[in-house]
Parts: sequence; structure tokens; C-alpha cells
Amino acid sequence: MSSRNNGKGRGLGYELWLGRSALPPDLGAPWLPFLGEVKVERGTAALDSASAEFARSLEGLFGTGPEAGPGSIIAGRPAFVEQTLGGKSAANGTLTGGLPPGDGFAIRLAPAAAGDKPRLAVVSTTDRGVLYGTFALLRAMATGMRPEAAVSEETPAVSFRMLDHWDNLDGSIERGYAGRSLWKWGELPVKVDPRYADYARACASVGINASCLNNVNAACEILSTEYLEKIAVIAGVLRAWGIRTFLSVNFSSPIKMGGLNTADPLDPAVIAWWSAKARELYALIPDFGGFVVKADSEGQPGPFAYGRTHADGANMLARALGSFGGIVIWRAFVYGHGETDRAKKAWANFMPHDGEFEPNVAVQVKNGAIDFQPREPVHPLFGSMEKSSLFMEFQVTQEYLGQGNHVVYLGPMWKEILDFDTHARGKGSTVARLLSAGGGAEGLDRESAPVAPLSGIAGVSNIGDDATWCGSLFHPLNWYAFGRLAWDPSLDTDAIAREWIAQTWGTDRGLIDGILAVVSPSWEACVDYMTPLCLHHIMREHHHYGPDPAFDAGEREDWRSTYYHRADSAGLGFDRTRTGSGGVDQYRKPVADLFDDIETCPEKYLLWFHHVPWDRVLSSGMTLAQELPARYARGVAAAERMRERWRALAPRIDPARHAAVLAKLDIQAADAKEWEAVCVPYFLSFAKASAKELS
Ligand code: GCU
Repeated sequence: MSSRNNGKGRGLGYELWLGRSALPPDLGAPWLPFLGEVKVERGTAALDSASAEFARSLEGLFGTGPEAGPGSIIAGRPAFVEQTLGGKSAANGTLTGGLPPGDGFAIRLAPAAAGDKPRLAVVSTTDRGVLYGTFALLRAMATGMRPEAAVSEETPAVSFRMLDHWDNLDGSIERGYAGRSLWKWGELPVKVDPRYADYARACASVGINASCLNNVNAACEILSTEYLEKIAVIAGVLRAWGIRTFLSVNFSSPIKMGGLNTADPLDPAVIAWWSAKARELYALIPDFGGFVVKADSEGQPGPFAYGRTHADGANMLARALGSFGGIVIWRAFVYGHGETDRAKKAWANFMPHDGEFEPNVAVQVKNGAIDFQPREPVHPLFGSMEKSSLFMEFQVTQEYLGQGNHVVYLGPMWKEILDFDTHARGKGSTVARLLSAGGGAEGLDRESAPVAPLSGIAGVSNIGDDATWCGSLFHPLNWYAFGRLAWDPSLDTDAIAREWIAQTWGTDRGLIDGILAVVSPSWEACVDYMTPLCLHHIMREHHHYGPDPAFDAGEREDWRSTYYHRADSAGLGFDRTRTGSGGVDQYRKPVADLFDDIETCPEKYLLWFHHVPWDRVLSSGMTLAQELPARYARGVAAAERMRERWRALAPRIDPARHAAVLAKLDIQAADAKEWEAVCVPYFLSFAKASAKELS
């Protein structure tokens, strides 16, 4: 029976994937020869964390039981490793030469020579790299790899791998389903919850190096001196794990906090206010990361009120932060102006300003053009903006995907986006490559550093203060996978899930296969039972949980379900072709043509781009009117199968954890049925009307 993470410590699931309980002897044995001595460089906060991590994890994994061999593990920067080995021997060169750049690391085995003690080294040119290499080595151990297989060279794909917390100052979390905010503002700066460090450790273990603490719908008070002093304490805890702190700011802060009568980005008093705020911030937090800004979006203030552009607004803030090394992450989630198709609005708003942003501005774009739907085609800004840094924004919290209740592994969804070929610079211009090159298509022409200095992938966090951190024992998988994919988008998502399972539930192969069979199909299942064929935004208004395809009277047209699915007797789906909204032409040519033609449009995106006649025959041989209910039924069946597979794992999992997950899967299966029961008759009523018209 699996014993990992079984409630020792601070509650069921608290230890996440870092439980580090004893490895079975056969998996531990190959590592023992190296455990005679562990020497880790000290002296910076990140190195000290790496050292503590070795001590804690090795004790958990190997205990004090078996006799360790004569060899050693050495972790540090090149000078330390060389010094520890005693001068520049041939082995030193092999261990410390030709290292990956920046926060990359190498895990190397000293060449075996007669009489030599076995040595394993974690080497990086930076202290953070040593920390990431440490976690990589410990992960290799904990997942049952052999030492030879742990040998690797890794460089993170992007420079900023960031979690965005949508936490409010009153402790609530926008779109949070895992309790209240981690940040205990009432207790800070005096009392420091140990959770901050546990959070940072978990982030660092998967390479996350940036954290934005508060909601993009930002309260002005976050920039008050009172709050900055609290934030400085959190930043200090995060720093020890290589994480830079960011804040979301409200564009009207100079009015609400500074008593000015304008927030016009070109007004000298406004510029002076932000500059003074930046000085205050950096005096308290020297490595402060920068600002995340939601402006002129969903009621948030922005430069438009003053006749200024997104670039004017972003650049003013960027200049205030620039001399301190800070950046501005300006969100592209805007859909209030121009265009009638919401999916076209961000592109229409931002393309005219491509090339106008300061070098320390990144435009952060959601993965799709609407809003974190179960499936969306990639946002057309990726590959279109040539001269601007673009960050990816994924949503780890499952706002539209069953929230804290449904087990939905999002790795495959993110992977589909990252692997998408935008054709921005010909074939092979995948989103992942664009992001590494800094987001803008021009970056792909540069052959310089593999990772652009301003490149990033952000995830809206699913973390709160509940016992499991994320709302259930399975939701941390998405936190884990987000970090792993942001570090290396080429990773296989089943392999990531296997790592997480091995570290969270146990290393037994049958157990890993069994749990993988639950999570691996879960995203496609969710797409099928909620929004098959790329239906979108047919969730209940505001809370976005259950089905409400008939919803047609909300505050705004583009919050109504009927606006998106457009069901009528002629067919179903949003026509974004050249004869419809023209949304397809926001993509590069070969992609635009592919989406525009109903014959070539991938079926998974069909109802996003086409208003499809009910009697159109799809690849299955069924008409749309037959396919749609079949897809819903397939989703329900898949959710039920996930539950059955989990039930079958009962003998291998401790009863408390098994029951906790089963309770979630019960809800998921029931909800899937509800989606089917509501959506199928609703949509088919249009198909029937169509059949009547035809007869
Ligand atoms: C969604 C979400 C909001 C959030 C917004 C954003 O619309 O429902 O709660 O504020 O995205 O990303 O800014």
C-alpha cells in the first residue's frame, strides 16, 4: 500500500510531491555508492536551500538504514566543485566544463577509473541553477531512476516561470477553489507562516522562479507602505528559493493612493509618483520583479481614459522600474473596444502597437482568444506580434474545467498550445520556440542565446490555504506540470504525470500505471462532456461551473452562451471564417487557410471557426446532429471509467486518500451527466427544427 504523502506532517496531501518517504531497497541500492559524503556549496540563500534540501530528502529517501558506499555527491558552482575535488584533475574538467548558460545545470558522473570513488556532481554557474539541479537529482532518485539515467544538461526554456495569484487583500481568491489566500496579511510582517517557505520550496522544485502575489483586479492598497513592508517579508522567504516577487498594480493608483487627480501616463506628476513608488519598493525589495497590469479590461482603469495607448501605459511603468532591473507584464486580455467578435479584440488592440513597447515590457497573452476554455485554439497574437516580447498565460486554477471538483490533468492542454505551429517564420515556428526566443516572431531569426532575457510563461495559480494546497489530492498535479512544462515544453506530459505520481503516491509500477490511466485521458474527457468540438463559454454566468447553453440575457452580449454557440436551425458554432467574422485571418497564412476551410479545419476546433450544418457528415461518418450527443456520451463514459479505475486501485492506496479522491470523482461523474442532460436536448432541439424545415 502506498505510504507517500499520507498525512504525516500537516494533513493529508500537505507534503505535495515532496513527501520523500523511504525508497524500496531495489530502487535505492544503485544510489548508495554515492552517499558516502554529500558536499554542497553554501553561502547564498539559494545554496543554503539546496544544502538543506539534500539533507532533508536524502534522509527521507534512504533513512539511516543501509550502509552508504565510499563515493560522494558534490553540488555547487564550478569553483566549489573543483576545489572540493582538489584542484584541476581530468575529472574536474569533465565535471565542470561547458556548462549550460544561466540557471541551467548539469548532473554529471565522474568517469570511472580504477580505484576511483564514484562521484556525482550537480554543477551550475549560478546558485539558482545549483538549486534546480539539486531538485532534478533528488527527483531522479525519488522516481526510481538509476544514476546513469540522471546524467543530464538542462537549460530552462524561458527566463520567467511564474505563478500569478489572483489573491485579494481580504484573503479571498478570485477563481480560487482551494481555501483562502496563502498570504496572511493580518499577521504580516510580524508573523511569518511556515507555509510561505513550503510553497516556495515546492515552486523551486519544479523550476518556478517568479510569483505575483495579488489579483490582477488589483486593490490600490497593495502599494501602500504598510503592505510593502509585509510584502518585503514574503519576498525574503521566496528569495531563498530563487523566486522573485511581483505585484499586480491598479493603473489608477496615483489617484487613489497618491491623491493626484489623474493617472494619465504622460502626466509628469503621474510619472513622478510611479518613480517614487519604484524607489520605495526597491529600497525594501532589491530584487523585486516588477508589475503585472490588467488595464482597460473588465472595468479596470487604464490609459484609454486619457486618450493614451497600451504602449503609453506600459512604457511609463517600465521606465519607472527599468533602472532597478524590473519589468512590466502588461496583459492582453482586453475585449471592450472595437470588433464584434470577442476573439478578435486583443489582436485588434495590440497589433497596431507592435514594436512600440520598451524592452522591459512583456505583453502577457492568454493561451486562447476567449478565456481559458476547456479547449481553445492558440491565441492569434502568438506568431503575429513580431517585435514585442510575449509571455504565455495559462490558467492552472480550473475556472472553467470543474474547479476544485473535477480531476482534469491540464498538461496535455498546455502541450497542445506549446506545440502549435504558428508558421510565423515558416514551418516549425511553434509557440514553445517563440516563447523561448522572447515571444515575438523576430526573435526566431536571432541565433544568440537559447533563451531570451525577457521570455516567460505564467500560470494563474490553483493554490490556497487548504490542506491539500489545491483543493484536492489530484489538483497539485497541475501545479507540478505547469512548472515542469514552463521549464521544458518538450517534456512528455505522461512522463510528467508519472514523475508526479511516483513522488506523490509511490513508485510501484502497477500503481503508477493505474493512476496514469485515471489522469491521462481526463482533459479530453472534460472537453467531451463540457464543450465538444470546441464549443465554448456555455458555462453558467459568473461562477462558470455548470452548463447553461440557453443563457442569453446577461449584462454583456459576450458573456452570453448563445453569443458563442450560435445554435439555430442552420447549424451550430461561431463562424470566424472569411465570410463570417474573419477571425481566421488573424493567423498566419497557412494556418488561416487551414482554419478557414471546413474541409481542413481540425475537427477539435470545428465549432470555434465554423457554423456547421446539422447534417454535415464528420470524420466518424456521423452527422453533426449525431456526433454531438455521441461526444457528450463519450465524455460521460470516460468520467465514469476514471472513477472505476480509481476504485480498482483501492487495495494499493491508503483508505483516507483513496476515499478523498473517490468523492471528487463521484462529483465529476455526476457533473458530466448533468452537462450531457442539459446540453444534448438543448442543442438537438435546433437540429430537430432544422430537420423539420428540410422535410
Ligand atoms: C476571467 C475571469 C476573471 C478574471 C479575468 C482576467 O474573465 O473570469 O475572474 O479577472 O479572466 O483574466 O482578468
